This record gives sequence, C-alpha cells and structure tokens, in this order.
Amino acid sequence: MRTHMLKATPSSIQEAAGLLRAGQVVAFPTETVYGLGANALEARAVRRIFAAKGRPADNPLIVHVSSRAMASRVAKDVPPLARRLMRAFWPGPLTLVLPKSRIIPGAVTAGLSTVAVRMPAHHVALALIRAARAPIAAPSANRSGHVSPTRARHVLADLGGRIPLILDGGPCRIGVESTVLDLTQDPPAVLRPGGLSLERLRRIIPDVRVQTASRRPASPGMKYRHYAPRTPLLLVESSRSAKAVSYTLHARFGPSARIAVICPCDSEPTWKGLGVVVPLGRTPAEMARRLFATLRRLKAFDVIVAELPPKAHLGWAVRNRLRKASVLRL
Ligand code: TXA
Ligand code: MG
Repeated sequence: MRTHMLKATPSSIQEAAGLLRAGQVVAFPTETVYGLGANALEARAVRRIFAAKGRPADNPLIVHVSSRAMASRVAKDVPPLARRLMRAFWPGPLTLVLPKSRIIPGAVTAGLSTVAVRMPAHHVALALIRAARAPIAAPSANRSGHVSPTRARHVLADLGGRIPLILDGGPCRIGVESTVLDLTQDPPAVLRPGGLSLERLRRIIPDVRVQTASRRPASPGMKYRHYAPRTPLLLVESSRSAKAVSYTLHARFGPSARIAVICPCDSEPTWKGLGVVVPLGRTPAEMARRLFATLRRLKAFDVIVAELPPKAHLGWAVRNRLRKASVLRL
C-alpha cells in the first residue's frame, strides 16, 4: 500500500474523512501526539488499526469526539463530575473512562464495559471528526512498542506502507499523550499521567487517586512497555554525580561507548564531558514537547542517559514516559 502524506487543508481533511467513512484508517494530528483513527462505530474498521500498529487486541482505544453531545452518545451515562471536567478541560488532553454505550463495539474497548473518551484541542482533529460524522477511535500512530509520534514524519517512519493517508498538521503542541482518568471508580483514579497535570486535575477533584503502577492494571495498556526505544536508556536523578554515572556506563558499555544525555536546560553543565548533551527544555512543558522526537533522534547512540525532571506539572508525565522507556537502573 502506498502511504500519502498531505498537508492538512480543508480538501485533504475531506479526503481523510471520506476514507474514514469507507472503513479505512487515517493518521491525523492532535495537540498531544498523532493518532491513527478509524470509525469507532465499525468493528471492521477498528480492527484495521490493530493490524497496522501490530497492537495487542486486549489494549483498548480512546474514542475521539468533536462535541459533548457526541460524548453522550459514546458513553452510557455522563455523571455531573464528568460534565464539570469536560467544561473545565475539553477540548484538551484529558481522557475520561466512562460506562460505554451500546453503539461502541467491543473491538474498541477490548471487550470492557467502559469506554475512554476525549475531545482533542486541535482544529484538524476536530474538523476531521465532524467531516467523518462519527466518533473516531484512535491510539497513538506508532508501531506498537515504539514511542508516540509528534510529527507527521514519525508516523511515516513507523506506518509507511501500512496505512493510506497521513494528515500533516505540523509538530504536536503538548508532545505527551493525554491524562487518562477513570470516573467509574470512586474516588476517580488517574490511570496514565499525561498532558493535563495532576495539579490542574486536583482543582476539580481534590481527592483524585493515582493508580498508574498497580500490579493488576486497571488500564490494560499499562502492562505493556509502550515506550521502548531500541537504544538502552539509563535514568538518573539530578542528585547523581556525572562521575558516578560515567563510571557505571563505561563499566557496562566499554570505554568508547557513544553516550547521549538528555536533561533539563539547567543541568546541561553537569553532564558536559560525559557525551553529547541534549537539553530538552527550560520548563516541564518544553521538555514534554521535545521528549519523543529527541528519543527517536538519538537512536544511533549506544546508550542514552536521561536526567529525570522534577515531578511538578508535566514533569510528572515526562518521568512516567522515561520510566516506561527505560530498562537500565543505576
Ligand atoms: O493523547 C492521547 O491520548 C493519544 C491521542 C491520539 O489522542 N492517544 C493515545 O492512545 O495515547 P493510546 O491507545 O496510545 O493509549 C490509550 C490508553 C491506553 O493506556 C489504554 O489502555 C487506555 O488508554 N484505555 C483505553 N480505553 C480504556 C478503558 N476503557 N479503560 C481503561 N483504560 C483505557
Ligand atoms: Mg500509544
């Protein structure tokens, strides 16, 4: 199959919507990462997503909507708290897990009785959903096991030849996936930290729980190592000395290992001399925006050292994604 990559314009969005209405899959930009979409009401179309990504069928998808009215058709029940969260944070990087309605096939939810729903804050994504006249099921548009794509060319690298169309909407503004919040539990639980910070969520739900590392995953996706660049990734806290890290790396990878370091801008001087230092950003938001593109770019190194940012704001999601990508510990 030939994969077309088109700049997102009113006419290419219409073309993409036509493919979606015909039961095909299409990659499109959102504010978080690129998604690989299919009509959420058609099990056959949705199965094409799993085939293109090589995604295990027991990992459910997020359904993307263009209005709160559409969300009410996807979910069986939208409780008052969900309505408040939608008013506060939609469109935006918050996915709500709610009881599913009968119109959503089991292929979308991996047979669960709940459905994950979000309204993306991206004009291309919203225009596409409206033009398709249906909710769009979409996971991140990467091959299963790779980091999520934040640019159209990342999608092409992963899924070229496997999907008919990629809409290019430029780089994603947030750069990490949405925060997934389970509203079927009381109090509600965060299943995946993401583009909406815990601080902002707590303004609406002060007693929100965080359930991102349970042994029996409530979110089936949590058991998979989604983020697995082939290059070994070593995580270090900012308190670690460069000398200790250097000693460990050379013991493990030899004296001529090619080493890259990613870190907050502030600590660039700390790591100079260890290898090629790539400062990710000054703020957690900047670090989130550049994280996945940087991990893809540094694939050719023997090892990547990543200094974990502080937990506040999007630092929480960045730390989570780095942990998932890492196999090495000091
Ligand atoms: O920002 C995002 O969320 C991006 C863009 C494309 O919208 N999408 C994305 O999808 O990251 P994906 O498939 O890579 O991650 C979806 C996550 C998985 O961890 C999955 O297990 C969880 O949401 N999930 C989906 N449906 C669920 C459900 N009914 N109950 C619990 N977790 C669910
Ligand atoms: Mg994903």
